[in-house]
Amino acid sequence: MYQSSGAYGFRDQLQDALAMVYARPAIARELILRAASRQFPEGDVQHWWHLPSGAGVRTRCSDDLLWLPYAVCQYIAVTGDDGIFDAGTAFIHGAQLKEEEHEVYSQPTVSIEEATIFEHCRLAVEKGWTAGAHGLPLIGTCDWNDGMSSVGDEGKGESVWLAWFLVDVLKKFAGVCGDRGETALAERYLGRARDLSATVERTAWDGEWYLRAFFDDGTPLGSHQNEEARIDSIAQSWAVISGAGDPERAATAMRSVEKHLFREKEKTVLLFTPPFDKSSPHPGYIMGYPPGVRENGGQYTHAALWVAMALARMGEGERAVHVLQMLNPIEHSRTPEDCAAYKTEPYAVAADVYSLGSQPGRGGWTWYTGSSGWMYRVWLEEVLGFRLRGGRLTIQPAIPADWPGFEITFRYGKTEYRIEVVNGGERLEQEIALTDDGGRHEIRVSAGVGERSLTAAGG
Ligand code: GLC
Repeated sequence: MYQSSGAYGFRDQLQDALAMVYARPAIARELILRAASRQFPEGDVQHWWHLPSGAGVRTRCSDDLLWLPYAVCQYIAVTGDDGIFDAGTAFIHGAQLKEEEHEVYSQPTVSIEEATIFEHCRLAVEKGWTAGAHGLPLIGTCDWNDGMSSVGDEGKGESVWLAWFLVDVLKKFAGVCGDRGETALAERYLGRARDLSATVERTAWDGEWYLRAFFDDGTPLGSHQNEEARIDSIAQSWAVISGAGDPERAATAMRSVEKHLFREKEKTVLLFTPPFDKSSPHPGYIMGYPPGVRENGGQYTHAALWVAMALARMGEGERAVHVLQMLNPIEHSRTPEDCAAYKTEPYAVAADVYSLGSQPGRGGWTWYTGSSGWMYRVWLEEVLGFRLRGGRLTIQPAIPADWPGFEITFRYGKTEYRIEVVNGGERLEQEIALTDDGGRHEIRVSAGVGERSLTAAGG
């Protein structure tokens, strides 16, 4: 959970926790409970807080709270530990934001009563379920992109990325509601997910990619009509990741990402392009960064990883690995010229890489777990296709054609599984049922390139 700021970020903690579910699930659980304890009874959460005091900032940021159900659903899917839903955590209490306030730093009090994690998640989903003039969720004073602080600060701007993310969360949470016998809730959330997907297709398709947002005054952001920020990667990658985008459009959108946002020479994948410089309406503090630096049209590695994830989900292993190689710091450090341009550590992931005119390809903020956590997950879960679901394991790789295969050594409790995956060849059994018998198991799996189905044999 490292970034050099001193505070704990709500969405960052929860995303990082999901990289821990295999090696240290107890830590992931603890981080989820800790994040839930930073929620107000109204459903919103502290954007970040300081320990040990718990003082932090209450904001109008629109996505933070939704990372709670997102993380809980993924944690349960992998570990099978649905008991987490019945664990209890307190709320924090504090003054609600006044109409003219965008954020307030304060010291909240902690409630005596506790609510279950299920209830914390339900509150987050209800509060995060908003809709503006186009029927898309309100962006508030930011969504995942913190710097887009003025796109919707009058309370009307809407976010297309957030729509995809909300659809994903609603579908996942509806699934667990169903498992808990909450069928009315499950149906309500699935209905909303369906309506919202249709709304995005109706209002946010730009011809070759999806729009990123609408400003308060209805001006589109991330459109071919814009001079700046014409195409933004996260509105495209999440059309695929959420599983909700029209498949043909989503594929076109990803081709547009490759065409407009890949910089092969500098080995970077930009967040959007061109950067903000003189835009009107003003998008927020993002425009304070020099064009091409950090979120302002540089490579934001976190978002570039979602591009790799989307490509792998489409079964395009070759392309997904190409992106991951561009993000690998060692690929920026092979020659003295590379090192002189990149300038930073060859062994630690950089949160951002500049596309700035004078310093293209210069690495920014390194050792950032927000990127490395996702990098680990995308390699493992999406490219190697390692899908742990409680006591069951499937391997569904999306790998390049010329890879002979790969090996994974996985410790399941006290038991070691050595899994050899051979690219191509005869299809073997479908699924590995894991047993924690303290022994060593050798498994051979055969899978075709980019096949999202699998083949495995236990031994
Ligand atoms: C920083 C923040 C993260 C945010 C990202 C994009 O990495 O820590 O929460 O999503 O920037 O703005």
